[in-house]
Amino acid sequence: MIFGAVLAGGVGSRMKLADMPKQFLPLGSKPIILQTLDKFLANDRFDAVYVAINGDWLLYFEDLLQKYGVQDDRLRVVSGGNDRNESIMNVIADLNKTFGDNEDDVIITHDAVRPFVTARIINENIDGVLQYGMCDTVIPATDTIVCSPDGEYISSVPLRSELYQGQTPQSFNVRQLRDLYQSLTAEQKAQLTDACKIFTLAGKRVRLIEGEVYNIKITTVSDYKIAQAILGGKISD
Ligand code: CTP
Repeated sequence: MIFGAVLAGGVGSRMKLADMPKQFLPLGSKPIILQTLDKFLANDRFDAVYVAINGDWLLYFEDLLQKYGVQDDRLRVVSGGNDRNESIMNVIADLNKTFGDNEDDVIITHDAVRPFVTARIINENIDGVLQYGMCDTVIPATDTIVCSPDGEYISSVPLRSELYQGQTPQSFNVRQLRDLYQSLTAEQKAQLTDACKIFTLAGKRVRLIEGEVYNIKITTVSDYKIAQAILGGKISD
């Protein structure tokens, strides 16, 4: 089976808003999270589409679904975890309970705060994960990236042509992700905040999928302004 997972368990601390996590801010005609969810529900290859919501905001989110008339039998809502990977694991726990534990199940995980994901990117993730078992959405680095472990001096300048910026979706075989994650120590879990890194450290090959420059993650207030400008420019696939 093919599962979507829109991750909205975070609190958006870098956005520094007092009243609500950033995924609930309006963007165009509806909140950011519903813009993102629309892209997933529009794809009929998904057997179920999960949303992981910060526990304090579950009722608020249920109200939003009603208010905006979001109705889809494939939609399932679970509580988020303490970090992003734990939110993914909460989704996997529910899908194992509800749909069983099947060797070929795949999950397309996506940040709720990347509302500009396209149908192409989602479809190429589904194709990629079915073929390769795991894949990550990236764009080639356009700026030179410098490495500075101490934050004061440059230690190296890696070759730009080999560098990419990570976006989402990140897509995995469900069983492999769960089993690898569960094999980590608490310390490793705390360090491996990027799910793809769990696979690369285990020596697995993660296939690249081409993202889009405008598939931005809304992290700060200036990203939010850029998102509004992108929407105003009506960029879409
Ligand atoms: N996320 C999640 N569960 C968590 C933490 C994050 O599902 N416990 C989700 C966020 O809701 C977001 C995505 O992962 O859609 C990317 O994370 P990030 O941009 O870092 O979001 P926040 O953790 O909310 O932001 P901040 O780090 O500024 O607090």
